[in-house]
Amino acid sequence: MTKEKLRHIALVGHMGSGKSTIGSLLGKLMNYDHVDLDVAITNQAGRSIGVIFAEKGEKVFRDLEEQALESKLSASESLVISTGGGIVERSSNRRLLQEKSFVIWLRTDIKTLVKRVSKRSTRPLLIGKDPLEVLTKLDAERADLYSEIADLTIDTNNMKASNVSELLFDSLKSHLGIENE
Ligand code: S3P
Repeated sequence: MTKEKLRHIALVGHMGSGKSTIGSLLGKLMNYDHVDLDVAITNQAGRSIGVIFAEKGEKVFRDLEEQALESKLSASESLVISTGGGIVERSSNRRLLQEKSFVIWLRTDIKTLVKRVSKRSTRPLLIGKDPLEVLTKLDAERADLYSEIADLTIDTNNMKASNVSELLFDSLKSHLGIENE
C-alpha cells in the first residue's frame, strides 16, 4: 500500500453503523485528529444537514460532501474520517477514498440499524419514512459499493463502540506498522 493511502483512515457504512462514535474513539487510540464529515459540512455551510437537504436539495448536499471529502483527504496530518452513509454513491468519492485512505467498512445488519436510527429522527432520508424500507433499499444499492472499496471490514452487530474501536486499533497496528508502547 502506498504511503499516501495509509495516511488517513476512513470509516464507511450505513447510517447508524456507528461511524461517528467509533471514529472519535479510534482517533483517540491512534492519536489522530477525528473529523466527522457531516459536522465539517454543517460548519462550512452554516446550516444543519437537514436544512441543506430541505432548502437546497440532495444534489447540493452531495456536492458539499464531495468538496469536504477532497479537502480532508488532502490534509497533511493524519486523520480518522467518519463519512456519511451516502459517500459511496459518487464514483469520484469511491476513487478518492481508495486512493487516499485506508477504508474500513462498519458492516451492520439492517435490523440493528433500524433499532439504532429509530431513536433519532433527524436524518433527512428517514424523515416521514419507514426506516426498514429505506435501509433495505439503501443496502441493496450500497452494500456492494462499501465492499468494493473496503480495505478492512468489521461486523459491528452486538458490539460496543469501545470494543469495535479497540479491535480496529489492534488490526491497524499491523497494517500501519504502529508499535505497541
Ligand atoms: C446520508 C447519511 C447521513 C448524512 C445524510 C445522508 C446517507 O450520515 O450524510 O443524511 O445518504 O446515507 P450518517 O451516515 O452519519 O447518518
